[in-house]
Amino acid sequence: MASRAAEEAGSLLLKHMYGQLELGHKEGRANLVTDVDVLAEKTVIGVLQSEYPDFNVLSEESPAVARDSPFTWVVDPLDGTNNYVHGVPFICVSIGLALGQEAILGVVYDPVRKELFTARKGHGASLNGLPISVAKRTATKEAFLGVDLGYDADKGKAMLDFVKVPWPDIGGLRLMGSAALGLTYVACGRLDAYIHPYLYPWDVAAAITLVEESGGKITDWHGQPATIESRVIVAANETLHAQFLTLIQGQLELPLNGV
Ligand code: IPD
Ligand code: CA
Ligand code: CA
Repeated sequence: MASRAAEEAGSLLLKHMYGQLELGHKEGRANLVTDVDVLAEKTVIGVLQSEYPDFNVLSEESPAVARDSPFTWVVDPLDGTNNYVHGVPFICVSIGLALGQEAILGVVYDPVRKELFTARKGHGASLNGLPISVAKRTATKEAFLGVDLGYDADKGKAMLDFVKVPWPDIGGLRLMGSAALGLTYVACGRLDAYIHPYLYPWDVAAAITLVEESGGKITDWHGQPATIESRVIVAANETLHAQFLTLIQGQLELPLNGV
């Protein structure tokens, strides 16, 4: 059902992708919203609420819906809005389900490649119905690392400073432009690791379960298991995670330290 919501919203994103977009600016550096974000969000919430009217909803572009429930749908109707606006086809719809702050289900849909990633706590993770797992590489010098900078100028700068630490002794470095899909690429082994300096619940809610259920580790700055309220995010297989976490704790100075 969350899959259907993601696919319906994804079709909308695809339909309007290269059309005329109405742009709005939110707080932060280059933090955009379009009329299509809002349209896709209505679609997702409509489908979710038709079957789970009693669950809370936390969604990026609209006020939170608070019900008397321990369960919360956490929705990013379009992750990668900057990519979308510029016609760079790396975007997704992200829908997570949280019990309290703990992520228990994740659906990420990439409408461009028609790839549906799903995971449920304790039941594994899959891509279009086939099991996925994190990559097995264990040396940072071979690791293909994805990062993003977020919308806060200082935190983005701290991230750029951080990537100079492993560089050039690393397999590759990518600025993804969609945190949810970047993290999902760790889950399916296309990236070896992904690090972000400051995420919101809707960016990570689905990806947490995807990474954990595909055998990976996803934590905050302190190495604590990620929740939907974690801000700094480090995801990789167990061995690489430990190495990147040590690097980031050793090198990344304020304003990230301790988040
Ligand atoms: C953003 C993307 C981006 C990340 C930002 C997010 P949005 O989400 O995931 O890669 O760096 O921190 O907010 O605005 O495209 O939904
Ligand atoms: Ca987002
Ligand atoms: Ca978004």
